[in-house]
Amino acid sequence: MSKQPFLRLFFGVERPATRAPASRLVAAIRDQIRSSPALEGCRLPPVRVLAHQIGVAKGTIQTVYDELKAQGIVESRNREGLFVSRREGAIAPAAPPSSGVSPPKLKPIPLLKRGAPERRPGLLPLSAVFIDPRLLPRKRLADCFRSVLASPGMPGTYDVQGLRALREWIAARLRRRGIVAHADHIVITNGSQQALDIVLRAIATPTIATENPAYAVGKRLAELSGLEVVGLKVDPFSGLDLGLWERQLRDHRPGLVYLTTNFQNPSGYSYTTGQLSQIAAWSRELGFGVLEDDWGSDMLSYSEFRPSLRTLGGENVLYMNSFTKKLLPSLRLGYLLGDERTIETLVHTKRVSSLAVPALVEAGLLEFLERGYYEAFLRTLHEELDARYRHCLDLLDALMPEEVRWTAPGGGPILWLDLPRAISLRDLEERMRRRGVQIVTSEDAFFGEPHLHGFRIGHAYLAPAEMARALELLARELRAVLGRRAA
Ligand SMILES: Cc1ncc(COP(=O)(O)O)c(C=O)c1O
Repeated sequence: MSKQPFLRLFFGVERPATRAPASRLVAAIRDQIRSSPALEGCRLPPVRVLAHQIGVAKGTIQTVYDELKAQGIVESRNREGLFVSRREGAIAPAAPPSSGVSPPKLKPIPLLKRGAPERRPGLLPLSAVFIDPRLLPRKRLADCFRSVLASPGMPGTYDVQGLRALREWIAARLRRRGIVAHADHIVITNGSQQALDIVLRAIATPTIATENPAYAVGKRLAELSGLEVVGLKVDPFSGLDLGLWERQLRDHRPGLVYLTTNFQNPSGYSYTTGQLSQIAAWSRELGFGVLEDDWGSDMLSYSEFRPSLRTLGGENVLYMNSFTKKLLPSLRLGYLLGDERTIETLVHTKRVSSLAVPALVEAGLLEFLERGYYEAFLRTLHEELDARYRHCLDLLDALMPEEVRWTAPGGGPILWLDLPRAISLRDLEERMRRRGVQIVTSEDAFFGEPHLHGFRIGHAYLAPAEMARALELLARELRAVLGRRAA
């Protein structure tokens, strides 16, 4: 077992105690230990180290330690050294927060009104946006990471913009999907969340627009960045009201429009080519930039057939994507594609925000991509996810009461389930939790009064039997509530 680190002791700033009598040092150490119960059980520095630190003879420190031992403040443990006595820590009163000293002043805004929808262990996450971790290629990833760690090419430093070879691989793949991309214009990010963060930090205009309902954490990030955020209504059943969008865009003149054009989170909506072309045309006419979040690509075979705004809108569009949702959430690797006019600012913004993402992780992912594992993985993943998507729709058809409706987005990770207004979402969330199922009701995603009343179902996360169980329980709860209302 490795040894415990040493406690740091402080003796004031003035060159202390060359002549300090041992008694003053005893008092100084005792006061520190008594004023902080957290020190209980901590290990004291060796005699020679403390003697060197404060510039006194070793014999003086030995005397000090002997005295502290005699007072029961410290105790020696076999061959391990001296430790602050348990008894001493236990009797020391907890120091009250000293008045007049405040922690750093933070904005009084919680991350999300409802709190972050963290996954609760033991509950079936019916609204998860992730792919089932059991489907992910952990072994192959582990092989690649092992190989990188063992190789002489293991990166010892980092490139702020991201590993060049990884950027080249990504650019080549984007080009195969019809997106003009050059490695020089790509920044590797800590998930696509950092891509969003970089753009929101760098944007020079005070107003942006995004979908309503929005990707809630992105909306919150924009608000925390002090931006005014305009919500553009998306109805996954009837689509976009482009007339309304146009009025809002002309009235508010956002400098940036952030859109998730495939399987938007949380509505599951995918834009049509006509809608994308219209947005690209407005972007040129009204002079706003677009940030396209392509999170849903690669997640189902269908998703590849949708055009990207970057293709239609050209370099007016910043494009972001991520490996976290389709490969492994813990990789936390995403990327942002700009062009020669924007890339310098984007890279510089990343530099000041985080310097770089871990180059080791970049190298491990690159190994995985270069061995051809990604495309092979996607082939099997698509089959499984297509089957899960169809299975989920079949279950909804078979189980849901007729007042409930849902979308059939054609793929992606999520669909939207909409409920009669008479059902309280909070109440349903709680009832489902008691039955072992977690739903996320997305209130934070809306601007003002929500025009939808329901939640997203993540059909890529739960295994077929789990999905059947979760939806059976949901149907039972809904029937119970609706039955009570009708009675
Ligand atoms: C639409 C959308 N964009 C971006 C992100 C950020 O994801 P990551 O940082 O894992 O790439 C999420 C996360 O759920 C998301 O739903």
